[in-house]
Amino acid sequence: MTQRTLVLLKPDAVDRGLVGEILGRIERKAGWRIVALELRTLDLDTLRVHYAEHEGRPFYQPLLEFMSGSPSVALVVEGERVVEGMRALAGPTDPIAAAPGSIRGDFGTVVRENLVHASDSEKSAEREIEIFFPTLAGRP
Ligand code: RTP
Ligand code: MG
Repeated sequence: MTQRTLVLLKPDAVDRGLVGEILGRIERKAGWRIVALELRTLDLDTLRVHYAEHEGRPFYQPLLEFMSGSPSVALVVEGERVVEGMRALAGPTDPIAAAPGSIRGDFGTVVRENLVHASDSEKSAEREIEIFFPTLAGRP
C-alpha cells in the first residue's frame, strides 16, 4: 500500500547537524523515496495550522517558539506503509522512552526537542502535505 507522509526535521535536528543521518535512515528503507524537500524557517501562521490540535495545551506556546526559532527541513516521503513506518522510525514522543534504534531513541533526551515530526495517520498526512507542499496535495 503506497502512501505519502509529511516529515519535519525539527530545528534541533538541523542545528545539531543530523539532517544527513536522519535522511539516510529514511532513504535506506526499501522502496521509500523523497518526493519533496526544503530547508525552511517555519512561520507562526503555518505552525498554528499544523499544530491546531494542541492549541491550549501547556506545551503549545513553547513548541511554537522552538519550531519557529531556526530552520527545519520539511519533506514528503512516499512508499510502502510509510505513514506507520515513519512513526516507527521516529519512535514515541518522549525520547527517553523511545527505543534505541529509533531516531528519537538514538539522539534525543527532552520531549520538545525530539528531532522529527511524522504524520500520525493517512488523513493527517493529507492535511499536512497540503499545508507544507500545496502543489503536491491530492496527487497519488
Ligand atoms: P509530532 O506531532 O511532532 O510528530 O510528535 P508526536 O505526534 O509524537 O507528539 P504530539 O503529541 O503530536 O506533540 C507534538 C510535539 O509537541 C512537543 N511536545 N512537548 N509535554 C511536552 O512538553 C510536550 N509534549 C509534546 C513535542 O515536540 C511533540 O513532538
Ligand atoms: Mg503529533
